[in-house]
Amino acid sequence: MGMDSQELRRVMGHFATGVTVVTTRDKDGNPSGLTVNAFNSLSINPPLALICIGKAAECYSLFEESGVFAANLLSEEQEELSRRFATKGIEKFAGVKWRKGQNDVPLLDGAIGYIECKIINQYDGGDHTIYIGEIVNATAADDRPLLFFNGRYRRLSRQEE
Ligand SMILES: Cc1cc2nc3c(=O)[nH]c(=O)nc-3n(C[C@H](O)[C@H](O)[C@H](O)COP(=O)(O)O)c2cc1C
Repeated sequence: MGMDSQELRRVMGHFATGVTVVTTRDKDGNPSGLTVNAFNSLSINPPLALICIGKAAECYSLFEESGVFAANLLSEEQEELSRRFATKGIEKFAGVKWRKGQNDVPLLDGAIGYIECKIINQYDGGDHTIYIGEIVNATAADDRPLLFFNGRYRRLSRQEE
């Protein structure tokens, strides 16, 4: 008997993560993106990162089409942005301030870090695809991150500073 998917979600939710908005673009430079916590540092030398993107995501095909993405590491002030980029069927970028990074990948104002990547490999991962990106630029500020644990947004307690 396979794992019950609701129970699997519940168990996996016990792995605490940060929150990113992963952005990409179409061939005309129009921005696209979604909230992702399946982001990981993969290798330092060479510099690689990975993301897992659901095959049902509206922007799914754009990753293969553009071959680039950025992981925008969200600050504790950006819960609303995280909710917005996890909502289907809305104009996610309406009213959102952003700029173009390398390869015209969208970078969202106010993030605490930006990991800009060129996709070098992809692997099937069930209902997701695993994309491996070569990091072409990475920057971060010492600000406070947004966290996700057990289905809820969290923040570091002041103790951890
Ligand atoms: C905290 C959080 C983490 C998420 N992580 C992922 C993820 O790693 N990969 C993914 O494909 N979707 C993830 N999602 C779901 C997508 O953000 C959501 O389904 C989004 O609406 C899909 O994009 P679309 O609107 O373009 O279809 C996450 C959602 C939340 C709230």
